[in-house]
Amino acid sequence: MKMIRAVFAGALALSFSAGAQAQAPMVVKFSHVVAEATPKGQGALKFKEVAERLLPGKVQVQVFPSSQLFGDAKELEAVLLGDVQFIAPSLSKFDRYTKKLQVFDLPFLFDDIAAVDRFQQGPEGKALLGSMKNRGLQGVAYWHNGTKQLSTNRERLARPDDVKGLKFRIQASDVLEAQFRAMNANPQKMAFSEVYQALQTGVVDGQENTWSNIFSQKFHEVQKTIARTDHGVLDYMVVTNAKWWDGLPPDIRKGLQQAMDEATAHANRLAEELNQRDRKRIEEAGKAKVQLLTKEDVAVWRKAMEPVWKKFEADIGTDLIQAALKSNR
Ligand code: LMR
Repeated sequence: MKMIRAVFAGALALSFSAGAQAQAPMVVKFSHVVAEATPKGQGALKFKEVAERLLPGKVQVQVFPSSQLFGDAKELEAVLLGDVQFIAPSLSKFDRYTKKLQVFDLPFLFDDIAAVDRFQQGPEGKALLGSMKNRGLQGVAYWHNGTKQLSTNRERLARPDDVKGLKFRIQASDVLEAQFRAMNANPQKMAFSEVYQALQTGVVDGQENTWSNIFSQKFHEVQKTIARTDHGVLDYMVVTNAKWWDGLPPDIRKGLQQAMDEATAHANRLAEELNQRDRKRIEEAGKAKVQLLTKEDVAVWRKAMEPVWKKFEADIGTDLIQAALKSNR
């Protein structure tokens, strides 16, 4: 009798703990490298809000901004290892996984973010979301940030000659490396979290980034001039582990995809607004001078960066470049 009671109690305890486990929400981690007051920061928070609303008690989303969980160097591997479920690296940071996404780094390719959006939502752009599946990564969305501006610790920054010999921090992209070499400058690949200090201590003289990244990282406080070049795009692909994603229970995957779609719409609606707000804040702060460029100046920058296209045409594919060009209208 005693034994029966003990077995019964054990079985009860087991079924309780199994029940408790079944009810524990699945923890989904979203890690990124920027501040929360940026388009990507806001997108990640929106994803959490909607996912937890659509999947109450089933999913808990934890968002880690500002490289708190993983920085540039580790985040892609962390997704593959299952240590984090979602990240949103800039399109410049996938070099090691596919050469196709390099199309986004070609200088002066897109007229504006609306053109970038048309390309991303078109058949070629959508296909790129699945281009790293053989490497274990599934793209689930594109998020906008905006166009890049060039900044240095020098007074003069109107023409490519003004950056000759200067050291620039770049994202981990061979196209961006070639872009700065084409201007006879010295590019240095560096994680985003290290840029402020590198600018402050003079390890590098300059960098390129969007207004929202410049403002939220206070780069304008350690740079003398920011030229409004709009010479390239800084956008993101939200990626997850392909195996994990495909293996999710259908209701969870559906809810997460819907949350991702809402977060995407939210981040993309905000992107332009936040960048313009931060451009004004930088101008008002009066620390770095914002250098306006004439049409002639821009034409000279464009010409200086032109050789980059030829260099990467074969890797990217002319068809893809043509499709991207067609989105300008
Ligand atoms: C950078 O490294 O400059 C950017 O990619 C950071 C980001 O995620 O916007």
